[in-house]
Amino acid sequence: MNKLVINADLGKHRINKNIYGHFSEHLGRCIYEGYWVGEDSPIPNTRGIRNDVVQALRKIKPPVMRWPGGCFADDYHWMDGIGSREKRPTIVNVHWGGVTENNHFGTHEFFDLCEQLDTQPYICGNVGSGTVREMRDWVEYITFDGKSPMTDLRRENGRDEPWKLPYFGVGNENWGCGGCMRPEYYANEYKRYACYVRNLSGNMINKIACGPCDKDYHWTDVLMREAAETMQGLALHYYCGTGHKSRSATVFEEDDWFTVLKSALFMEELVTKHSTIMDHYDPHGKVGLMVDEWGTWHDIEPGTNPGFLYQQNTLRDALVAGLTLNIFNNHCERVQMANIAQTINVLQAMILTEGEKMLCTPTYHVFEMYTVHQDATMLPISLTCSDYEFDGDKIPTVSASASVDSESKIHVTLCNTDPNTDAEISCELRGVAVSSISSRVLTSSTINAHNTFDTLDNIKPEAFDGAKITSSGFTAKLPAKSIVVIEIK
Ligand code: AHR
Repeated sequence: MNKLVINADLGKHRINKNIYGHFSEHLGRCIYEGYWVGEDSPIPNTRGIRNDVVQALRKIKPPVMRWPGGCFADDYHWMDGIGSREKRPTIVNVHWGGVTENNHFGTHEFFDLCEQLDTQPYICGNVGSGTVREMRDWVEYITFDGKSPMTDLRRENGRDEPWKLPYFGVGNENWGCGGCMRPEYYANEYKRYACYVRNLSGNMINKIACGPCDKDYHWTDVLMREAAETMQGLALHYYCGTGHKSRSATVFEEDDWFTVLKSALFMEELVTKHSTIMDHYDPHGKVGLMVDEWGTWHDIEPGTNPGFLYQQNTLRDALVAGLTLNIFNNHCERVQMANIAQTINVLQAMILTEGEKMLCTPTYHVFEMYTVHQDATMLPISLTCSDYEFDGDKIPTVSASASVDSESKIHVTLCNTDPNTDAEISCELRGVAVSSISSRVLTSSTINAHNTFDTLDNIKPEAFDGAKITSSGFTAKLPAKSIVVIEIK
């Protein structure tokens, strides 16, 4: 029998709600069509931003939104995206399909989106092809409340009050699309640019440095050694999929199921090893590990633009989300933010759109089920479980995390990675007595279950009666290939 011990009386660290953050880039149909349809669109919108999407996203309580990229960020010149829309210059999105954009979605529209979503803005600045002055001016334009050339310009463009900007990324993937730099070179550049990302008019900016790709531990070592004192966060990017033979998001067998889940679980090793390096230079944990790009990367949907990274999303992606978020929760002492890539119509999306139609993906439902952990206190767990074996390889059958919220409700999220067999688990809850239990499950009879524009609710969370109170805690029978959230009072 699988066994979980939850130390309900030993909670010490808060699960920063920003772990449930999002990333929206000017890529494919994420910004344009996904959010932005323009004020004259027949699709119901508020100042150009579609209402159905805002309404759906608000239900998963997005705590923070990273924008405008991604690779796009180091090619983006913010002044092209302000002022009268008709007069804005176009930009060719060289990284993503070579399409020409009209810059109708810029700084003002982004802050409007954040206000509509009730989320915090996280802007990623341009180090690769932008100047220090450009970055400095952007921060002044957004946050300064005195009189200056930048605030005059902001007021001319219709915004009197400054906005609050709590997070700013100093470049994106500067080891690759953001300038092909060595870590030593980028560390110097980071310090130079970050110096001009100022705290103005009482706005306090958390500066986030470009971090490593996957297991580039050398990058983390150099950045922490050279620049830890000047940053509040170090980014980490990791995508999982079926490796170089990127395969269909919906047409796959058990071998691909296993491969993708195994590669998702590699996040545990990544977070542990990068955190160990960070602990060395920053023993008091002042610098957060910000996993500001993560998720599945499958083959594109047939017939779509390869540069748009449009993929469907199945129960397998939901499992990836559940496993990964459990890892982040359990490492919340160091992981202070994470941003799944990307919110709409790109990679592991929450939402897919087609004209006026919209659907919520299985990944969306996991984010909704896990909202209970946002800003709750993580409860340390110890888990002993069997393995799910496939073709001579294996991964743990069960993944779990637990937290207690401000009303003393305990929430446990559990995943069963095995697509064929239910997993019985017995949980000992130390330090509290259980008086009531309720739970929900996300599962399906097929591994590739997904929602379509014709069957919106093919897969969605359902009430679950497989969790029972015992004298020391509870037991649960986790269905094969499932994600379960349990609430204990
Ligand atoms: O999310 C898609 C791309 O993946 C981002 O633009 C880039 O930062 C990463 O390589």
